[in-house]
Amino acid sequence: MTEYITVSDDDLVDARNGVIKLHGPDAFVGMRAAGRFAAEILDAIAPHVVPGVTTAELDQRVYDHMLRGGGIPATLGYRGYTKSCCISINHVVCHGIPGDKAIKYGDIVNIDVTPILDGWHGDTSRMYLAGNVPLKARKLVDVTYECLMLGIAQARPGNRLGDVSNAIQRHAEAHRYSVVRDFCGHGLGRLFHDSPEVVHAGRPGTGPELKPGMFFTIEPMINIGRADVKMLDDGWTAVTRDRSLSAQFEHSIGITDDGCEIFTKSPTGHDKPPYA
Ligand code: MF3
Ligand code: CO
Ligand code: CO
Repeated sequence: MTEYITVSDDDLVDARNGVIKLHGPDAFVGMRAAGRFAAEILDAIAPHVVPGVTTAELDQRVYDHMLRGGGIPATLGYRGYTKSCCISINHVVCHGIPGDKAIKYGDIVNIDVTPILDGWHGDTSRMYLAGNVPLKARKLVDVTYECLMLGIAQARPGNRLGDVSNAIQRHAEAHRYSVVRDFCGHGLGRLFHDSPEVVHAGRPGTGPELKPGMFFTIEPMINIGRADVKMLDDGWTAVTRDRSLSAQFEHSIGITDDGCEIFTKSPTGHDKPPYA
């Protein structure tokens, strides 16, 4: 049985306990601001994702932008993580740690940011293309974005989370790609990672029913090759076991009376490449 609790404004910051929070209008206002701020950071970083730049330099830009805008990076100090974003290149599935590594011509790069603004978490990621990227990789990026948006199109009251998952899985597999099973989307709001878990593959009509006021992310990771993932020794970086390319896009959304609101849409319309 799925449990729900209607939370008034921002008074309930309970740890994740399996109960799905249904938020009110004030929370939508908070998430709208945090989500927009997160999207603006991804807009601003685009011209800097070029061959030769190190991922640490990009992380510094994200950090500066967050602090200048009155936010803080949710990832900083999160379970021992010490950076302001995740940067995942080519066969890195997610949670790549910024460092001395430079981006190379032809790389596909995911940047995932989560600023906290006035206590609300805006969580979003996009793919960036460094220089001219091979068609095969660009195709993966395009289809992964389509997966995210097809999932979002199923996010409305009365549908279930499995309808979202299934839309993503069907589209990925129609292109002979695979959906990563080891990581999922998540509820968010005052908390970074809250209930429910949002898996990106599943059966229609299964899982929790979607209700107005639910906030969660959808963040499919799609591989050209097999779905299997391997963790690196740093304890964070997840890579494809077969070293095939992996792509990801993420939005934070809120279920409304008749559909959903995407909190993290690019204010300039640059939700997917090309950004120039
Ligand atoms: N932003 C990631 C997500 O989409 C989480 C990153 S946690 C970190 O949920 F510690 F790895 F940064
Ligand atoms: Co997320
Ligand atoms: Co994220």
